[in-house]
Amino acid sequence: MPLMKVLTVVGARPQFVKAAPVSDALKAAGHEEILLHTGQHYDDRMSRIFFEELGVPEPAINLGVGSGPHGRQTGEMLARIETVLLSESPDWVLVYGDTNSTLAGALAAAKLGIPVAHVEAGLRSHNRRMPEEINRVATDHLSDLLFCPSESAAEQLRREGITAGVHVVGDVMYDAILWALPRAEAISPPAERLGLEPGQYWVATVHRAENTDDARRLKSVAECFAAAAEPIVFPVHPRTAKALAAASLSLPENVRVIEPVGYLEMLRLVRDARGVITDSGGLQKEAFWLRRPCITLRDETEWLETVESGWNRIVGVDPDRLARALTAEWPTGEPPPVYGDGSASQRIVELLRAA
Ligand code: UD1
Repeated sequence: MPLMKVLTVVGARPQFVKAAPVSDALKAAGHEEILLHTGQHYDDRMSRIFFEELGVPEPAINLGVGSGPHGRQTGEMLARIETVLLSESPDWVLVYGDTNSTLAGALAAAKLGIPVAHVEAGLRSHNRRMPEEINRVATDHLSDLLFCPSESAAEQLRREGITAGVHVVGDVMYDAILWALPRAEAISPPAERLGLEPGQYWVATVHRAENTDDARRLKSVAECFAAAAEPIVFPVHPRTAKALAAASLSLPENVRVIEPVGYLEMLRLVRDARGVITDSGGLQKEAFWLRRPCITLRDETEWLETVESGWNRIVGVDPDRLARALTAEWPTGEPPPVYGDGSASQRIVELLRAA
């Protein structure tokens, strides 16, 4: 007999990684999980490959919502998730991170009085121009259980008056990387296929609306890449590929553009790299856990501990600041254990059960 029925909402690439260890922990404890994919990401390289690599079964439900303006995309998800929740009546709705799929899942459940649990609660950039910030704030204020990756996230929730149901459990992405790293070390190195030597290239990703949807800022990103003497491997997000084409921007010669890669290939690329240049949240942490320098192409970050420990430098899209960071002194040794001990998923399942 299943003990608890949990409906998990995922939709975008990082959520497939975050949900995988929690799905395993739910299954191991005998609970029933219904995996709902909103369809926000639908390309094989943005979605299917992650389920294959992580050994997560195909989602039981795929709403096929696809791309669109924020209101329409989120609204379509909301309506379709509501229909599913009415027929499934889960004990919990579990949402991850800060995407439109996160907000739609939380809002649909909260309106029906179904308890909501948010994994990666309490993160803030304090920049309301980011769609993700709106999604995080709204989701946290709709949630009954708030699973924080760090103490600073719980402190942020306290500042917003949220104290009930808040638990610092650690980061599920750390659980995921502990599982995946030995597997990533067993694959053939993607850098080798590109003719690159370990430690002699940087790996870059760019996909945030603030960088892609403003042609001037996107041009500055290209100028930042030109500031590097070493090759840059650039797995390009479809949104960024479209934005580069629309702005007729070409990238400097040291940039090696490749298709989006799966989780294991990405971890291996980063592990073998000199460091990471990114505007992604997840990659800032993955670089930290893999002890690689991270240069962040944003004006602020939610992942304060990566900066405070010296492993991450925020440079905006300023080529001079980026050039200084490329040749800066970086820490050595182990990063501090600020995002848990790899048992976040298990603690989440225990807390859901106990609530
Ligand atoms: C979304 C999240 C972001 C997260 C990111 C991870 C929101 C508001 N943003 O951004 O927080 O960091 O996912 O990647 O939810 N596209 C494709 N194929 C796909 C998916 C997208 O071609 O499989 C293209 C489409 O042109 C689409 C654009 O990418 O319009 C943007 O996709 P969307 O899902 O809106 O947001 P992301 O930029 O991926």
